[in-house]
Amino acid sequence: MKIGNIEISKLASLAPMAGITDRAFREICSQFGVAYFTSEMVSVKGLIYNSTKTFSLINHGGLERPFALQLFGSDPKDFSHAVKLIENDLPDIIDINMGCPATKIVRENSGSALMKNPELCGEIVRSVKDACFLPVTVKIRAGWDTINAPEVAKICQQAGASAITVHGRTKVQAYSGYSSLEVIKEVKKAVSIPVIGNGDIASATAGKTMLEETQCDLVAVGRGAIGNPWIFSQINDPDSDKTVSEEEKSRIICMHLEKLCTYKGESVGIKEFRKHMSSYLKGVHNAAELRRKVFCAETKSQLLEICFSLKNQN
Ligand SMILES: Cc1cc2nc3c(=O)[nH]c(=O)nc-3n(C[C@H](O)[C@H](O)[C@H](O)COP(=O)(O)O)c2cc1C
Repeated sequence: MKIGNIEISKLASLAPMAGITDRAFREICSQFGVAYFTSEMVSVKGLIYNSTKTFSLINHGGLERPFALQLFGSDPKDFSHAVKLIENDLPDIIDINMGCPATKIVRENSGSALMKNPELCGEIVRSVKDACFLPVTVKIRAGWDTINAPEVAKICQQAGASAITVHGRTKVQAYSGYSSLEVIKEVKKAVSIPVIGNGDIASATAGKTMLEETQCDLVAVGRGAIGNPWIFSQINDPDSDKTVSEEEKSRIICMHLEKLCTYKGESVGIKEFRKHMSSYLKGVHNAAELRRKVFCAETKSQLLEICFSLKNQN
């Protein structure tokens, strides 16, 4: 399967997640075979106003390829302007956020609010296509309050999109209910470009079901990868009964902490690691006590000691 001219060989991509899919987490996931990686969402206005924080989000390295940079905004001119500003740190793919339901994003007519205006979705794709030579993808929801994902997908394809990721919930549903396989299937029927199904993939079985029932080309995994990055190897090889040993998990968790501290400095790294550690501890014997220790730990070496102790857990 190809997205534009980029060959994709695995079955599951890493869905964009603000506050989660930073360089450290993407590199951790890369060890388990990710089809392609998506950044956290990046504001086109932040790039235009030269925000240091926004530019830090576009930074990526050689382990996380192909790398899709996700942009959000509402004005086609802002998108083309912003894309021209990232020439020095080029991603492999530009992805456009048409699915975020957060109030502060939809208030500005960005994210899922774009789905209320399918023509504007097309204009944004065209403006990005015209501004760069990279493949452009879009990430949509089922719709705003009613389902119009197939219509939006067709318009985006016509405007030059190379693939569509569909989260099968409407904006109004936010994260309630479930991601509709039927909607993903309808989008797949509506377009000829690759369709990436998204929503609720928390196991290899769920990935297999989505691929089979919707005929989508790939799945994108979001929440299911938090505290569980090995899910990618399980989706790629669902029939293998390979499990990740406690020793291997402990090694990966230590590495995650080291990477966060390297990329963000020890103080920020430790703070951000706590939320990941809380997810890593799900299902672990004496998790409550370990979480308490994690939240009390003040230095990287104290945290590493806790991570290291996990290899003796069952
Ligand atoms: C913490 C968090 C942050 C997210 N940030 C983004 C984002 O920046 N851009 C985006 O398109 N979707 C974002 N999403 C939505 C996910 O990419 C995905 O569509 C959604 O969580 C459903 O998939 P899942 O069930 O595999 O998590 C976010 C979701 C979560 C939980």
